[in-house]
Amino acid sequence: MKAIILGASGYGGGELFRWLLQHPKIESIEGTSRSNAGKTISSVHPNLLGIAEGDFLESIDWTKYVHEEKLIVFACMPHGEFKDQYYLLENEWGKLGLSERILLIDLSDDFRVDSHFVYGLSEINKDQIKGSRRISNPGCFATALQLGILPLAPYRPEHIFISAITGSSGSGYSASSTTHHPTRSNDFRAYKMLSHQHEAEILNSCSQKDWNPILSFVPQSSSLVRGIFATIQLTQNESMKASDIPMVFKDFYRNTFFVRWVNGTPRVLSTVGSNFADVHVMVQNDKVLVMVALDNLGKGMASQAIQNMNLALGFPEWTGLRQAGPYPL
Ligand SMILES: NC(=O)c1ccc[n+]([C@@H]2O[C@H](COP(=O)([O-])OP(=O)(O)OC[C@H]3O[C@@H](n4cnc5c(N)ncnc54)[C@H](OP(=O)(O)O)[C@@H]3O)[C@@H](O)[C@H]2O)c1
Repeated sequence: MKAIILGASGYGGGELFRWLLQHPKIESIEGTSRSNAGKTISSVHPNLLGIAEGDFLESIDWTKYVHEEKLIVFACMPHGEFKDQYYLLENEWGKLGLSERILLIDLSDDFRVDSHFVYGLSEINKDQIKGSRRISNPGCFATALQLGILPLAPYRPEHIFISAITGSSGSGYSASSTTHHPTRSNDFRAYKMLSHQHEAEILNSCSQKDWNPILSFVPQSSSLVRGIFATIQLTQNESMKASDIPMVFKDFYRNTFFVRWVNGTPRVLSTVGSNFADVHVMVQNDKVLVMVALDNLGKGMASQAIQNMNLALGFPEWTGLRQAGPYPL
C-alpha cells in the first residue's frame, strides 16, 4: 500500500517516515511540507539519509492514486490547520471516487471530540477502530492519562489528581520561548495548570463509560526531549478498595502487547523510540498511585497512529512496530 503524510517535515512526520519505511505492508511514502517543498526528506530528517528517498511535495496530486485499492493518509499538522482542508479534501476524494478507499488518520486534536471520526485510543477502542476509515489519533498526554485512569471507570472515583511531565518535542519543531532549548533546559515549570486542552478528550472517554470525574491535571515541562511521565493519585471510596486496584490494572492490560505492566516505577527511557506504554500501580493504606511512562512521539503519537492503521486494516496490531527503543539513549 501507498502512504501519504500531510505535514511530513515536523517531528511527527519524521517519526511516521521512520516507522512506515520499515513497515512490511507499505511500499511507498510521499510527504508534504510547504516550506521544504523540493528539498530531500533527509535534509529535514537527517536520520533517514540513505533510507528515505524523494523530496517533500508542496501538495499531493490525488489523481495519481485513483487506481489504488487502498491509500493511507496521515494528517500531521498543527491543531486547527487540518479541519478546513479536510472538507475540501473529502470533496476532491469524492469526485475521484477515492473516499471509500482512503484510510485517514489525523494526529491533531481537530476531530477528537464530537466528530464522526473514531477515537484511536488503540487498547480501549479496538473494536471501533477495526474496519474504520476516519480515525482521530489521541493526544500524547491524553494517551498516557487515559491508560492510567480508564481501568478505574467501573469504580467511578470522583476526583483524580494528576501531574505529568512532557519533553520538549511535544510542542513540535517551531520553537517558542517556553520550548526553545536554552530557556527550557535546566528549568522545570508547570503550564496550562488545571486547564490543559487534552482534558476534553479524556473526559469525553470517561463520559462514554458513564463516569464524570473531576480531573485536577497539572502538566509540567521537563528538559527531556522525548517522553511523558504521568503520576495519578486518588483515594479509595465506598465502591473501590485501594488494595484491589493493582490487580484491576493487571487484568485490564493482561492481553495488551503495547501496554506493559512493570514492577516498580515505569521509566521514560524504557519506552522512548517504541510504541510501548509502561504502567505500574502502588497502594499504601487507602491511597492509590498510578504511574504511566511513554514516548510522546511514539505511543503518544506516530507509532500509535500506525497501530491504529494496522487495526483498521485487519493486520496484527504489532505489524512493523515490534521493536524496543535504544537503551541507554
Ligand atoms: N509532538 C508531539 O509530541 C505530538 C503528540 C501527539 C499529537 N501531536 C499533534 O500532531 C500534530 C503534528 O505535530 P508535530 O509535533 O509533528 O508538529 P510540527 O513539528 O509543528 O509539524 C507540523 C507539520 O505541519 C506542516 N504544516 C503546518 N501548517 C500547515 C498548513 N496550514 N497546511 C499544511 N501543512 C502545514 C508543517 O510543514 P510546513 O509548515 O512546511 O508546511 C510541518 O510539516 C499537531 O496537531 C500536534 O498537536 C503532537
